[in-house]
Amino acid sequence: MPKKVKKPKKLKKKKDKLIKKKLIVKKKSKKVIKKQIKSKHKPVKVKMGGKYTPQVLRGMKDILPEEVKTWDYLLKKTTDLAEAYGFKKIMVPVLEEQMLFIKSTGLTSDIVEKQMYQFTDRSGTKVVMRPEFTPSIVRAYIEQGMFNLSQPVKLFCFGPLFRYERPQAGRYRQLHQFNLEILGSEKASIDAQIILFSQALFNTLGIQTAIQVNSLGCPECRKPYRSKLVSYFRLKQKWLCPDCQRRLKSNPLRILDCQNSGCKDLISQAPQLVDDLCPECQSHFVKVLEYLDEANVIYKLNPYLVRGLDYYTRTVFEIWPERPEVKEQKQKKEENEQEGEDKKEKEIIVAPGPQSALGGGGRYDTLVESLGGRPSPAIGVAYGLERIIQEIKIQKVKIPKTRGPQIFLAQIGEAACRRALKLFEDLRQQGIKVVENLGRDSLKAQMEMANKLGVKLTLILGQQEVLDKTIIIRDMHTGNQEVVDQGKIAKELKKRLA
Ligand code: HAM
Repeated sequence: MPKKVKKPKKLKKKKDKLIKKKLIVKKKSKKVIKKQIKSKHKPVKVKMGGKYTPQVLRGMKDILPEEVKTWDYLLKKTTDLAEAYGFKKIMVPVLEEQMLFIKSTGLTSDIVEKQMYQFTDRSGTKVVMRPEFTPSIVRAYIEQGMFNLSQPVKLFCFGPLFRYERPQAGRYRQLHQFNLEILGSEKASIDAQIILFSQALFNTLGIQTAIQVNSLGCPECRKPYRSKLVSYFRLKQKWLCPDCQRRLKSNPLRILDCQNSGCKDLISQAPQLVDDLCPECQSHFVKVLEYLDEANVIYKLNPYLVRGLDYYTRTVFEIWPERPEVKEQKQKKEENEQEGEDKKEKEIIVAPGPQSALGGGGRYDTLVESLGGRPSPAIGVAYGLERIIQEIKIQKVKIPKTRGPQIFLAQIGEAACRRALKLFEDLRQQGIKVVENLGRDSLKAQMEMANKLGVKLTLILGQQEVLDKTIIIRDMHTGNQEVVDQGKIAKELKKRLA
C-alpha cells in the first residue's frame, strides 16, 4: 500500500481559509456522499392520523368549466391572430435551471429577488418553476440551433407561470400568459409589428386599451442617464421608499417603476432617458414611431416606462385597459395640467394602477449573446390571460355563444342503458354529436336535462324499443314523437338537423 503523503501545514491552513470564505468547496469523503444519497432517497414520513381539509393554494385558482369557455374563446382568438401574423407555436418545460433566470430576468428584478418558486431537485440541481417565458424561449433558440433557420424566427406559446407575489385582484401566484417572441432582427419594423399585433388583438377582442411606448436605449446611452438619475434621486433620497433607497444603489432605473405615491411624485420630475439616447438608439426609436403612425397604431409616449426585467434594451411598451371612468379622470387631470401650457404633440400619462397592465414587452438585443448564443437582437410581448378575462368582464365584452348540443339520448331500464351505451358510440363515430346521462335512471330527470340544454331532438330508448330494435324521436319544440328503426336513426337525424 502506498503511504499517504501528509500535506504541509501551511498549505492546509490556506485551504481552510478559502473554504471558510466559500471560495472553494471542501471535498466530501465517500462516507459523507453515501450518507447524503441515502438521506435524499428516504421515503417522506407523514403522520396520517389528523383531519385534513384539502384547499387550493393561496394565489392559485381552479378554472371551472363555465369559465373555461371564455378561456377557450380567448386562446382561439389569440392563436388565430398569432398564426395570421406568421408566428409558430412552441412548447417549453415548466421547470428550468435556476441560473437561466438569474442570468436573464436579472438579479435586481423583483422576480429573481423575491418571487421565484425554486428548489433543489433529487439530483441536486437548482430548478425554478418558470416565472416568465422569454428566458426559456431564448434558451431553446440557442440550444436547438434556431439561429440556423431563416431569420427572424417568430414563436408563440402560452401556459402557466409561477410568481410568489402578494395575491390581489389580477395578481396571482399561478398566472397564465400568451407570449410572442421575434428573434434575429433589430429592424424597427419588427418592433412596430409586435405593437400593432397588440392593438389588433385587443380590437379583435373588443377590449378598450391604451398602449404606452418608451425607449430604454442601449447599455451605452444608459450609462450617462444612470448617473443623472442617481444625482437627482440622491438629493431626494430621504423621501424615497425603503425599496427605492436600495434600488438607488443596485438599479436606479427601477425607481421609475415604483408605485409608491411619494416616489411617484419625485419620478414625475426626474430626468428622462429619451433626452440621453445615443444617435443610433434615437434613430431606431424615431423609426419605430414612424412605422406605428404609418400603421395607424394609437399609442402614448411614457418616458418613465422602464419595465421590471433586466434584459430590456431600446423599445419597451405596455398595454393598459382604458376603462370609461379612468378615461374621464385622466381627461380632467390633463385639462387642468394643460391650462396655459402649449399642447404637446403626444400626451404623457400616469398609469391607473399597479396590477392592471394587460400585457407588456420590449426589445432584448443582448440577451441571446449573454446566454452564449450568436448575437441575435430580439423583441417580444406577453399578455396576462387572467387580466384579460377580468377585463372582458369589467368592460362587459360579449362572448359569442358556441352552438350547444342538438340531440339528447335518454334511456329507461338496464337493457336500454346497455343499448344506449353502444348507440351513443355508433352515432359519435358517424359524426353526430349526442349528449347523454347514463348515470341517471329516471326519465323525468333526463328530460329536464334535455330541456335545460335546449336540444332540438331527444331520442328515447325503453324496454319495448330495445326488443323492437326501434327508438322514439321527440321534437322538443312541438312535442311530436315518432318511432324510427334503430338502423335508420343516423340517416334520420342528419336529415332533421340539416
Ligand atoms: P411581465 O410584464 O412580467 O413581462 O408580464 C407580462 C404580463 O403578464 C403583465 O402585463 C400582466 O398582464 C401579466 N402578469 C404578470 N404578473 C402577473 C401576476 N402575478 N398575475 C397575473 N398576471 C400577471 C414578461 O413576463 C415578459 N417575459 C414579457 C416579454 C416577452 N418581454 C419580451 N418578451
